[in-house]
Amino acid sequence: MDIFSLSEQIRRCTACPLWKGRTLAVPGEGAKDVGIMFIGEAPGSEEDRQGVPFVGRSGKFLDFLLGIIELKREDVFMTSIVKCRPPKNRMPSVNEIKKCQELWLKKQIDVLNPRLIVLLGKVSSNALLGKIDIEQFHGKIIEKEGRKYFVSYHPAAGMRFPKIKALMKEDFKKLNKIILQGNLFKIGLF
Ligand code: URA
Repeated sequence: MDIFSLSEQIRRCTACPLWKGRTLAVPGEGAKDVGIMFIGEAPGSEEDRQGVPFVGRSGKFLDFLLGIIELKREDVFMTSIVKCRPPKNRMPSVNEIKKCQELWLKKQIDVLNPRLIVLLGKVSSNALLGKIDIEQFHGKIIEKEGRKYFVSYHPAAGMRFPKIKALMKEDFKKLNKIILQGNLFKIGLF
């Protein structure tokens, strides 16, 4: 199984009711041999329309944050916890998260085997790490079951609240240091 055939299967998924309201599923996008995977919450309206992750307003802000550390979206793999837009952008339900994570996200992580997973916001952090307090853990590396995670806020929150925007900028600078120290670029990724 490779990431492209996984994406194909995700585009056809009907495992939970979210498929009924979607225009396009959003499997994720980016480099195949990634060192870093970014995981958000769920597609919004623009992502649903294009089938591409983080292309709406919060995506622009994420591009800006990546720019601070001289990364481009093609250098990383971006996806979300659930692959179909929830109606009216509501939060994905516990069951939707569980099903989508089990069916797709786990496999994407296995196949891509990233050296670092960046969790953007509460939904992705809680789904992968259990209930954690972002206030306490943002900007830090957390290791769980042999994987390394870096927690930050969701870009949609960073856009709305200046205080969170400032914290996210700091987090991304820390992320840059971690990338350089971890020599992720040495293996030809950056
Ligand atoms: N927010 C997310 O979490 N994912 C997207 O793809 C877009 C917005």
